[in-house]
Amino acid sequence: MVHYKELGLVNTKDLFRKAMEGGYAIPAYNFNNLEQLQAIIMACSETRSPVILQISKGARKYANQTMLVHMARGAVEMAASISKPAIPVVLHLDHGDSYDLCVSCVETGFSSVMIDGSHLPYEENVALTRKVVDFAHRHDVSVEGELGVLAGIEEHVKAAESLYTKPEEVVDFVSRTGVDSLAISIGTSHGAYKFPPGVEQPPLRFDILAAVEKKLPGFPIVLHGASSVIPEYVEMINAHGGSLKGARGVPEDQLRRAATSAVCKVNIDSDGRLAMTAVIRRKLAEDPKNFDPRNYLGPARDELVKLMKHKNEKVLGSAGKA
Ligand code: G3H
Ligand code: 13P
Ligand code: ZN
Repeated sequence: MVHYKELGLVNTKDLFRKAMEGGYAIPAYNFNNLEQLQAIIMACSETRSPVILQISKGARKYANQTMLVHMARGAVEMAASISKPAIPVVLHLDHGDSYDLCVSCVETGFSSVMIDGSHLPYEENVALTRKVVDFAHRHDVSVEGELGVLAGIEEHVKAAESLYTKPEEVVDFVSRTGVDSLAISIGTSHGAYKFPPGVEQPPLRFDILAAVEKKLPGFPIVLHGASSVIPEYVEMINAHGGSLKGARGVPEDQLRRAATSAVCKVNIDSDGRLAMTAVIRRKLAEDPKNFDPRNYLGPARDELVKLMKHKNEKVLGSAGKA
């Protein structure tokens, strides 16, 4: 067993309390490889933002779970070498789909896990989430649960349609499971195609968020599927051989509004994927003779840093809060 404190990580408790009091949200950036991890630590250290490093089940398999522990330790040490005091870093399992996966993550150094029982019947979601909380809390690890279903097209997150969170269920769910935060469904979805083409983007359901806040005063809420799908990157991809027609995300002003509410954690993956892919496509097209990965992965990393600094400063309000 590797406890997260041995890696220099923190759980979400203090971060969410401060985010709630300060009216901002902590970025939860997904990563799968070295350049993404470097970019997250650089951007968040430079803006002095607390950060949640987020790993999906697929990312854990991709990066190798043994390697990951060392990457997390390295990330904390890199942060300490960039700015003093070092920014707080959480290592979080994104969309955990079983008790055993959550246990394995707790035992290999994660400081926070999500158990996503949102696709299960309500009572099964409660029972599974409670079981994970009982284990994780014995190790001081935070747990995120989810109520309501987000539509999405990722490998491990599949749902044809979204089902909004029912505010009348949240008090029962939180009190019976003991979760530390709750992901809700208010109209965001995973991936780069959040709204059907030709249809005006419906605003997020701030009325549901307000009803949840009223039922659970001061309780940390999580927003998944929060990429903005920045048109500049989609255009760059399409201009260099890609084909992402009709990709659309959540407008930044709506995320800004959410971040000032009880939303304490905002999940961003697709925007980073798009930024990296856009720059890599452009660099390879501009320099067909290059075969040194540093010449395209380096600029892709720089673009990620720029993107994340912008999110921390202008969207989430987390800059300067570390
Ligand atoms: O919400 C899911 C994340 O974007 C992770 O996606 O399962 O393809 O790693 P993934
Ligand atoms: P996006 O696909 O909008 O980036 O959402 C990511 C996410 O919710 C990860 O859990
Ligand atoms: Zn998600």
